[in-house]
Amino acid sequence: MKASERLIVALDVPEPDDARNLISKIGDHAGVWKIGLELLFSGGADLACELADAGQKVFVDAKLLDIPNTVERATENIAAMGATFLTVHGHDVKTMKAAMRGREGSNLKLLSVTVLTSLDAADLEEQGSRMSPAELVLHRAKLRQEAGFDGVIASGQEAAQIREATGSDFLIITPGIRPSGTDVGDQARVMTPARAIAAGADYLVVGRPITQADDPAAAAAAIAGEIESARSA
Ligand code: C5P
Repeated sequence: MKASERLIVALDVPEPDDARNLISKIGDHAGVWKIGLELLFSGGADLACELADAGQKVFVDAKLLDIPNTVERATENIAAMGATFLTVHGHDVKTMKAAMRGREGSNLKLLSVTVLTSLDAADLEEQGSRMSPAELVLHRAKLRQEAGFDGVIASGQEAAQIREATGSDFLIITPGIRPSGTDVGDQARVMTPARAIAAGADYLVVGRPITQADDPAAAAAAIAGEIESARSA
């Protein structure tokens, strides 16, 4: 697998045409296009089908969390769109098992969101959790094994612990990536591309450091280069 195939670009832009414009600029410097909540509600679902039909890998970042019947049916619909990855909140096995039923017969890979990378220890305390972000991420990563999910979304700061606890046969997908010198923004648990890969991440999710760069293709190429050097180190 080429380093650029491990780079997932978060297309957090207002309209599908903004996303098409970015995709044509970035080209094969990235391997997966992530369509999240902002774009999904402004035509992103049709764009996801269009990209999948054109043979591109699409990550529908819908972060599902609902009663099992709703999660199962939504997953079925997303699988039918031809998506490669879908996120589901990994808070409980019931929700994850519903998604597993929904993707039956498709190639859709299911990823559980452990703890959002924008949350820190104080935010979890506010939610009533007595666990630290790292403890809760690890707890939820183990739950996904029980559910049979393909992998987890977690920050680079937890990747090494997850890899150790769950073995090598599952995917760690890491957002909260900030190349040195770039703005952290609303993220809390950030890491550079090289360090996240060294910690065990299989794929990196990168939004603003690429989409808001003066030259998105050059920013993506630089991150793919970091992925390559970290993997060969
Ligand atoms: O712009 P930035 O690189 O911070 O974008 C990160 C992307 O990853 C966003 O699309 C965000 O929704 C997503 N994400 C995240 N943390 C998670 C799960 C998804 O930042 N735990």
